[in-house]
Amino acid sequence: ATTTRIAPSILAADFARLGEEVRNVVAAGADWIHFDVMDNHFVPNLSIGPAVCAALRPHTTAPIDVHLMVEPVDDIIPQFAEAGADIITFHPEATRHPDRSLALIRDHGCKAGLVFSPATSLDWMDYVMDKLDVVLVMSVNPGFGGQRFIPSALTKLAHARRRIDAWQQDGGQPIALEIDGGVKIDNIASIRAAGADTFVAGSAIFGHPDYASIIAAMRAEILK
Ligand code: DX5
Ligand code: ZN
Repeated sequence: ATTTRIAPSILAADFARLGEEVRNVVAAGADWIHFDVMDNHFVPNLSIGPAVCAALRPHTTAPIDVHLMVEPVDDIIPQFAEAGADIITFHPEATRHPDRSLALIRDHGCKAGLVFSPATSLDWMDYVMDKLDVVLVMSVNPGFGGQRFIPSALTKLAHARRRIDAWQQDGGQPIALEIDGGVKIDNIASIRAAGADTFVAGSAIFGHPDYASIIAAMRAEILK
């Protein structure tokens, strides 16, 4: 059986009570904490940075999954590693040398991944498969929570799943396949069927009054 994971995006949490929100959502069954970093340059919005990651680190042992929506990326990688990030992913078009940026993340002791915006080709994966721990397919354009799921992401997930399975059949390391954007209780089963194993959800979880019940309901949809 594949490992599946629910990764609540704290972009949709109450920023005035972030430590408590993280503790509550992990107690409610979250597997990873998805941490969205926006720079008002690569994306037209500004969110949270390494200082907030460091402040949250003592509040949980759950992996912190840092999604960089910044350009360039290399300067900020050591800062997030120092701040306690476990996983760091970035958009390949936001760095001059994606291979170098992936290596930099691993050199700092973190898991590394590439993020694919809706129009970004999966071909960026081709020559860096050995340097990937995560592939993140975006089902909205990066920059904002609460957007609608773009249906073509399902086809893209299936293509990414094929590449990852072929790689693993050839003896390659495990690579998580993560989906991010507009994930809800009514589409999560089809997203799972398309090949995702790791599910980011912001508004669907933090907008729900009972984190444990929405996470359990999502998990039931994934496993059915
Ligand atoms: C968008 C972020 C997402 C976002 C997801 O740029 O990368 O992680 O917070 O939020 P929902 O689940 O509300 O679409
Ligand atoms: Zn994200």
